[in-house]
Amino acid sequence: KGSKLIGCGSATPKLSISNEYLSKFVDTSDEWISVRTGIRNRKILSDGETVTDLAVKSSKKALEMANLKAEEIDLVLLCTSTPDDLFGSAAQVQRELGCNRALAFDITAACSGFVLGLVTGGGFENVLVVGADALSRYVDWTDRGTCILFGDGAGAVILQATSDEQDCLLGFDFHSDGNGQRHLHALVRSTDKKPGDEGAVSNGDVFLPSRASVSCIQMNGKEVFRFAVRCVPETIQTALEEAGLHGPDLDWLLLHQANQRILDAVAERLQIPPERVISNLSNYGNTSAASIPLALDEAVRCGKVKPGDVLATAGFGAGLTWGSAIVRW
Ligand code: ACO
Repeated sequence: KGSKLIGCGSATPKLSISNEYLSKFVDTSDEWISVRTGIRNRKILSDGETVTDLAVKSSKKALEMANLKAEEIDLVLLCTSTPDDLFGSAAQVQRELGCNRALAFDITAACSGFVLGLVTGGGFENVLVVGADALSRYVDWTDRGTCILFGDGAGAVILQATSDEQDCLLGFDFHSDGNGQRHLHALVRSTDKKPGDEGAVSNGDVFLPSRASVSCIQMNGKEVFRFAVRCVPETIQTALEEAGLHGPDLDWLLLHQANQRILDAVAERLQIPPERVISNLSNYGNTSAASIPLALDEAVRCGKVKPGDVLATAGFGAGLTWGSAIVRW
């Protein structure tokens, strides 16, 4: 049984941070950031706003477009690496939307999360797939190599099972390589203190194990760049072959919005002309699992992506993980 895409939505925080503003507290400039990345602005969560809020807002819009009630959803997949609750936030999204019948769980696969979510919902009738991330919470705002890149946001789609031939998922291909973790990570650490060490928390003679903390995002930008430019065209090519399609058959290339130079390089390798590449990263930066559905929602709502259009989507990032899904809107 196949499925079709029947709705999309997106949401971003109100607070906007421009390149000029960043250059007030790290040694950078609007010119450097724009030329190297294509990014001009990013939206950042303020105090009190949560990833769950963004996921819920984007999902409500997707439900409205799909003309579905929350109770009709059977599965909620929240693709995020930055949940509000360590145990996952999908159930909170489910609760706030009122998807009372749905199973809900998180998918953690960094910037590849949303594309993985798209292929996970098979067997369910109505599936809500939300990509929502707030990497700004884990950025070292004194590290100019990473803080300029990321923004927060959410994007959602609704998949509905269909018995006709028109499955929206035409082909897909996914990979993981834990060896690449050294190039991109935000590690969870415990503070490693033994009883008697300075700073160890103890209660009389009883040593209390320390709490874990998460370090800021650390990235070797050049390595991640090389990985993306090498692996993304390959995974799209494989997914296209599975779909029985070629580059020229695509209406749109919709990649994870990490860096305009990556988008341009992948498009060039696949011989896809620039006017068929969807890009909105200048306004939002890299919003991780949210970036593909956020860009899709904008492209659908402005009439660029039309019913029946075929898109190659591809996510890539920490893990390392990468993969592609060829979908029909
Ligand atoms: N402003 C000004 N100068 C800077 C900045 C900055 N913000 N950042 C670095 N520089 C300097 C460096 O110090 C270096 O100076 P030097 O030549 O004196 O040593 C110079 O600019 C060049 O730095 P590079 O790191 O070589 O610049 P590069 O062209 O590689 O661009 C970037 C860096 C933008 C990070 C790029 O490598 C990139 O986009 N990589 C991919 C990141 C990515 O796509 N991640 C996706 C996954 S994210 C996820 O999964 C969570």
